[in-house]
Amino acid sequence: MDDFKNSQPSGTGCGVVDDTSSAEQTQFLSDVLDGLSGDVKHLHCKYLYDQRGSELFDQICDLDEYYPTRTESSITCQNAAEIAQCIGPNATVVEYGSGSSTKTRVLLDHLEDASAYLPVDISAEHLQRTALQLQEEYPDLDISPIVADFTQAFELPQQYDSSGVVVYFPGSTIGNLLPDDAIALLENVSQLCGPEGSLLIGFDLQKETVILERAYNDCQGVTAEFNLNLLQRINRELEGDFDLQQFAHLAMYNQSKARVEIYIESLCEQTVNIDDQEIDFESGQRILTEYSHKYTIEGFAEMASSAGLEMNRVWTDEKDYFAVMHLRAT
Ligand code: AVJ
Repeated sequence: MDDFKNSQPSGTGCGVVDDTSSAEQTQFLSDVLDGLSGDVKHLHCKYLYDQRGSELFDQICDLDEYYPTRTESSITCQNAAEIAQCIGPNATVVEYGSGSSTKTRVLLDHLEDASAYLPVDISAEHLQRTALQLQEEYPDLDISPIVADFTQAFELPQQYDSSGVVVYFPGSTIGNLLPDDAIALLENVSQLCGPEGSLLIGFDLQKETVILERAYNDCQGVTAEFNLNLLQRINRELEGDFDLQQFAHLAMYNQSKARVEIYIESLCEQTVNIDDQEIDFESGQRILTEYSHKYTIEGFAEMASSAGLEMNRVWTDEKDYFAVMHLRAT
């Protein structure tokens, strides 16, 4: 399972099937065959976000049961002035993700003389679209998208020196990563933002199992459709023949690991063909598709401190469902 690592939700939203380059398709095929050929089956969660998957994820964010998105937005809105004060004037905002959300606008609206906005995303197309849109709304702001995989170390273009860099990482996307990978990402952040820089990050908090499980098992079945869309994507793009009726969405909270684990379960013994390869499933056998780690404020601060970042301030909602934290390099 060690190779089940990072993800970027917005990362591979590269749109229509025909747009996906053949190099990406080759990678997708080999990752799918690797992930499904062993006994412990897994698929990387970044593959959930094709065009259909991204649409379904947007629908998830509006579900009654799915509290994270709206909770983070309201924390950000309610504390925008204080957050801006922590970040300080003339900041270069480096957002992990393409910055399509309203939270980005709230931040930009409150910062004092932001000097630049650099959204970082693996999908050039997605980045370009959101950057152009933002540029219309903020004509005087220097907006320069960076095509990079932020789960790996990358560098800022030279003209953006590291003084006054704030990395903005909303959405609890860090929760997809295993703890060691999360620490590695935070170490990269601390490198990137330098001794004067800081990090503003949103993450989901531990809470009652029923609330967590409801958030990932909504009664309209949107999350199930989102998860099972991955099999449809394999059918569409890799000539797979998954019978969607014979698989089910499963999400449960693993309390000892403090994470929601999302699987696709085979409902019978069956054989699936993908690009002329046979994949056998036993009845009840699962494919792991996503982890969503849940933290405590203390636990997150400790993890960050082992990566060279120190908590400065933290904001939560009245139910303590979600946290937005500001940290500085130590
Ligand atoms: C985008 C990773 C934050 O973990 O809550 C939501 C993804 N998957 N419902 C999360 C997700 C199913 C989401 N993140």
